[in-house]
Amino acid sequence: MARILITSAIPYINGIKHLGNLVGSQLPADLFARYCRARGHEVMFICATDEHGTPAELAAAKAGKPVEVYCAEMHAVQAEIARGFRLSFDHFGRSSSPRNHRLTQHFAGVLADNGLIEEVAEKQVFSIDDNRFLPDRYITGTCPNCGYELARGDQCENCTKQLDPTDLINPRSSISGSTNLEVRETKHLYLKQRSLRGKLAAWIDSKTDWPLLTTSIAKKWLNDGDGLQDRGITRDLYWGIPVRRGDQPWPGMEGKVFYVWFDAPIEYIACTAEWADAQGLGDEAWQRWWRTDKGADDVTYYQFMGKDNVPFHTLSFPATILGSGEPWKLVDYLKSFNYLNYDGGQFSTSQGRGVFMDQALSILPADYWRWWLLSHAPESADSEFTWENFQASVNKDLADVLGNLVSRVTKFATSKFGATVPAGGEFGPQELALIEEMGTRITDYAACMAAMEVRKAAAELRGIWVIGNEYLQSAAPWTVVKTDPDRAQAMVRLALNLIRVYAVLSQPFIPDASATMMTAMGSQDWSWPEDIQVAMRALPAGHGFHVPENLFRKITDEERLDWQTRFSGVRA
Ligand code: 2FM
Ligand code: ZN
Repeated sequence: MARILITSAIPYINGIKHLGNLVGSQLPADLFARYCRARGHEVMFICATDEHGTPAELAAAKAGKPVEVYCAEMHAVQAEIARGFRLSFDHFGRSSSPRNHRLTQHFAGVLADNGLIEEVAEKQVFSIDDNRFLPDRYITGTCPNCGYELARGDQCENCTKQLDPTDLINPRSSISGSTNLEVRETKHLYLKQRSLRGKLAAWIDSKTDWPLLTTSIAKKWLNDGDGLQDRGITRDLYWGIPVRRGDQPWPGMEGKVFYVWFDAPIEYIACTAEWADAQGLGDEAWQRWWRTDKGADDVTYYQFMGKDNVPFHTLSFPATILGSGEPWKLVDYLKSFNYLNYDGGQFSTSQGRGVFMDQALSILPADYWRWWLLSHAPESADSEFTWENFQASVNKDLADVLGNLVSRVTKFATSKFGATVPAGGEFGPQELALIEEMGTRITDYAACMAAMEVRKAAAELRGIWVIGNEYLQSAAPWTVVKTDPDRAQAMVRLALNLIRVYAVLSQPFIPDASATMMTAMGSQDWSWPEDIQVAMRALPAGHGFHVPENLFRKITDEERLDWQTRFSGVRA
C-alpha cells in the first residue's frame, strides 16, 4: 500500500466554474484519487477555494457584500457543486483560512531569514479615475511577447508568459477601462527567484517522466532568460493575508497583503492542516503528508492543473519550498491539461460562455458529464465540447453499451430464474475466454489509470464494456434457454458477476451508476479484481440481486437542440 497525496489546482472564489475548468484539474484529480483508493492506497486528496486578490474584492463589491461574507457564501456554493459532481476531496478548504495565514507568513519569514526576500521601491500603476493602485490582473493591454491584445498584467493567457503590468503595451484599467493611469511609487517584497535558478533547473531536469506539456512549459520559462524573474509577492490591497515576517510585524509593510499567487499553493499544505483540525487530529496528522522529516518521505505527491497554471507550480511554488530550506514535500508528478473549447469557440467565465457546473447538474446527473469530460479530456491537445458529440457519447457508451447490458441481463435473469444468481451449468469455452480477456484488459486499463492517461483509460473501460456486450450477443442466453436452460443459467451467472466487476472498474468515472450496479447485485464488495478468476465468481449461486432503475437515459434530439440554444449565449 502506497501513500498518495493529490492536489487539484484550487478554483478562484469568484463565480461558478465552467466545464473547461472542471476537466482541467478537479475532475481528473478525482478520477485518480478514486482509482488509487480502489487499489487500496492511502490517499489524501486536497482542494480549496482560491479566495484572495482583486477578483474576489470586485465580485463582492458587485454583489454588494463585504468580501469576507461573499467568500464564505461562495465557498459553500462551490462545495455543494463539488459534492454534486461527486468530487471526493478529503478536504475542500479555503485559502483565507487562519492556517493559510500562519503558514504563508511562516514561509515569507523563513525566505527572508535565508536572504531570499528583497524590499523593492517599485513604481506601480495607479488609476486616477478608480483612485487605487491597479493590481496586475486589472490592467489589460497588448502582450509584448505575442501581440495578444487582451493580455492581463500578470500573465498572457494566449502564450502563458508571466508578465509585469508595466510590460503591457497600451495599458488600461480593467475596472473602468480608463487609460488615465499614472505610475506611483510603493514598496514591495520580492522573492529572489533568480538565485534559485540552478536548483530549480536541476529539479526540473530530474523529472524525466513528466508529461511533455508540463516540462516544455517549465523549461520554456526557466531557460528563456527573462523567464525566471524575481517576483513581487506583496500587493497594496485590503483583502489578503497581511504581510508579516512569521509571527512578527514587517516594518514598512503595514497595510499590505501577500500576492494571491504566493499564498494559493501554500494552501495545499494549509488545507491538509485544516483537514486535520476538522478531524480533531494533531499536527502530526497533516505533517506526515508534507514534512519529509515527519514521515512524508514515503509519500508520492501528484498535482493536477490546466496548462496556464504550470509556470506557478514548476517555478514559483517550488522556489518558495526550496528557498525555505525546510523539509517540505515537493511535487513528484505534475499532470497538466490543455484547454477544452465550447461549440466552436472558447469557454469564457468573463463572457459567461459555455456550460457552467451548476447548469450542467440542473439538466443531467453528474455521471453523464463525468463520462463525457473525462473520455474527451484535453490531454495531448485542446479538445472541444459539442452538443452532438455529447449526445452521441452518452447515448452510445452509457445508454446502449453499459446501461443496456445491465438492464437486459438483470431483467432476463429475473424473469427466467428469479431474483437470485442461478446455479445451473458450468462455464464453457466462451465464458472462460471472456474471463481471460477481461483479465488482460483490466491490466491494460489499470496501467492507463496509474499513468493518468485519462482518455486512454476511458477507451479501455469502454472496451471492457463492449466485450461483455459481444459475449452476450454471441452467447445469446435468451435463445439458449429454450433448448439448454442449464447452460443459459451459467451464462447469466457470469453476466451478473460481470456487472459487479463493471461497478468496481467504472467507479472512478461514473460513481453513481457504479453504486447502483453494486447495490442491484446485492453486494458491497468493492475489492479490485486482482484475480479475475475469483472476481468473476464472487457472486455465488443463490445470491440475491434486483433489477436496477435504468442506469442512463438517452438524450433526445429535441433536448440537444434546446440545450444548444439555451447555452449558446451569455450566462444571465
Ligand atoms: O487558475 C486558477 O484557477 C487558480 N485559482 C489556481 C491556483 S492553484 C494553486 F496555486 F493553488
Ligand atoms: Zn502573449
